[in-house]
Amino acid sequence: MKKLTASDPETKSADVVAENIEQLMSLFPEAFTEGKLDFEVLKQLLGGAVEEREEKYGLKWHGKRRARQLALTPSTGTLRPCPDESVDWDTTQNLMIEGDNLEVLKLLQKSYAGKVKMIYIDPPYNTGNDFVYPDNYEDNLATYLRYTGQLSEEGLKLSTNTEASGRFHTNWLNMMYPRLRMARNLLTNDGIIFVSIDDSELNNASLILDEIYGAECFRGCIVRATGTTTGQDSGGLGQSFDYVLCYSRDPDTQLHGLPLDEDDEKRFQGEDAKGKFSVLQLRKTGNADRREDRPSMFYPLKAPDGSTVFPIGPGGYESRWRFGPEKYKENLESDMIVWKQVERDGKEVWQPYVKFYLEGRTKRPSPLWDDIDGNKKATIELRELFGDKAFSNPKPTALIHRLIQITFGEQIEGVILDFFAGSGTTAQGVIVQNAAQSARRRYILVQLPEVIDSSDKAQAIAAGICDKLKRPRNLAEITKERLRRAAKLVAKEKPLFNGDLGFRAFKLDSSNINTWDPDRENLGQALLDSMEHIKSDREDNDVLYELLLKLGLDLCVPIEQRTIAKKVVHSIGAGALMVCLATKISRDDAEPLALGIIEWHKQQNPAGESTVVFRDSAFADDVAKTNLAAILQQHGLENVRSL
Ligand SMILES: C[S@@+](CC[C@H](N)C(=O)[O-])C[C@H]1O[C@@H](n2cnc3c(N)ncnc32)[C@H](O)[C@@H]1O
Repeated sequence: MKKLTASDPETKSADVVAENIEQLMSLFPEAFTEGKLDFEVLKQLLGGAVEEREEKYGLKWHGKRRARQLALTPSTGTLRPCPDESVDWDTTQNLMIEGDNLEVLKLLQKSYAGKVKMIYIDPPYNTGNDFVYPDNYEDNLATYLRYTGQLSEEGLKLSTNTEASGRFHTNWLNMMYPRLRMARNLLTNDGIIFVSIDDSELNNASLILDEIYGAECFRGCIVRATGTTTGQDSGGLGQSFDYVLCYSRDPDTQLHGLPLDEDDEKRFQGEDAKGKFSVLQLRKTGNADRREDRPSMFYPLKAPDGSTVFPIGPGGYESRWRFGPEKYKENLESDMIVWKQVERDGKEVWQPYVKFYLEGRTKRPSPLWDDIDGNKKATIELRELFGDKAFSNPKPTALIHRLIQITFGEQIEGVILDFFAGSGTTAQGVIVQNAAQSARRRYILVQLPEVIDSSDKAQAIAAGICDKLKRPRNLAEITKERLRRAAKLVAKEKPLFNGDLGFRAFKLDSSNINTWDPDRENLGQALLDSMEHIKSDREDNDVLYELLLKLGLDLCVPIEQRTIAKKVVHSIGAGALMVCLATKISRDDAEPLALGIIEWHKQQNPAGESTVVFRDSAFADDVAKTNLAAILQQHGLENVRSL
């Protein structure tokens, strides 16, 4: 039975460096000698693609190397389940995670790599009034616990990143870089990331996104009208727009079109048995419209009066049709060609057109979004739920709806992630859209339990809401409460919708597994603690969900319990993982426990593999442990682990 320790890769969040090396090795095995990379060989294999000049194109700032490194360091934390703070814990597929998003993104790497179809984030714009999370390179998790009041009585207020700090853009870039880097791994191959930003960091955000996602994956920059012009006393131009940068994971991914509006539909004047249609000149217009561009598409056609028609452009130059003679024949036979008489140079001439139908047609989204709700509506939406202004500067749900439309098109399933969740607009946008379309899209939100300062007038309302709920005063509580209230509103407004309105709440914390720390003052206690690997203040459920994360299973996978040989056994994902965290397993227990587990596994998934996990300190002696592992392994359950 393999004993898992805190340093074991199986118990850690994904090791991105190891994965990078593995990928490089499989692409360029000849560049490795005895497991080490030979850069010279790699350079030769890559030929002209290697940039050797000293002055390279790209964005540089102090700390960039460390920011890159920070993304590669695995997290030592875990996510602890909070069923009491959740809605429909047993059935929901949505997640609301309270924590610093960098740690959380690292923890999600194994379970959600390649699974997220859309990411939307609205990070601090760095206007001089925002705080920017102070990552700590030595111990990021301890910093988090200190700031959120989990290491002392009171949480610390994070200080604002001001322009006078001397590291204004640097701090922001250092914060954003590793997060954007980690987020990319989570996207599906056809996944899209949207990043809201304004003038303060638009240029920097574009450059780091170009670097991390690839300039060829830039799908556009949306200019979003915010609704009112701010900055009246700025002396320069006021601001009435912000931006949403859009990148795909793969350069070939296309955004979906938007439904046509009434004005667009007016263009579809024709109607036949197949429905409403409009027509397009058969002669190619715009680029590459000349005979010499496609000589095979310059050929004569017979007009209804028997005359011969060639593709002739304005002024008389030789142009070309949109397709060759074969395809023209097919279109003619399927009644797709319309001939009209038009006037040219004072003469009536015949001109061919090709039909296109209204049904199923969408239009390319314009990058100017001034036709959706602005920020005022966003505040009203929040006020409708809380009766007051519970959060400053939320985004409108209409923005989320439109982003979902152009990402998903007709697709009704997929995961949407927002790791700067704020008040939780993204989640409300997802459930409202799901209810409208009977869709099953899931959301994952991450929000820092940023301490609410009740002495600040703007935050006093949020503090009051937390007090009323008897919850700690922090922003993640506001997020959760919005999700609960939004779910009730949707249930009321769409009583026939029977989709998912719940969420599972989790909180970032240190791992449930003790690390061996010989530097501690009380060495005796350290020794005792190391005998019991699982921290004494943690429950079975905490350990179960840490296992899910570290073995790469979805946090919403079904979990069942059974008592076998008087011990509680959990079966996760129909037997993919079977866990017994009983604190005592004697020699006599070993056989009935093993046989019961085998039987249950067979019932659930006879052919499937399983990992079986026990608490290491539970075994009365080595015999109990060896017997139990041997019986399981004889019956095909090879992966037996202890914690
Ligand atoms: C501009 S707000 C997002 C507003 C959101 N779009 C809405 O409509 O309510 C940015 C949020 O990111 C959160 N945040 C900042 N740094 C974070 C971090 N390191 N981890 C998680 N959340 C963070 C802040 O607390 C803030 O609530």
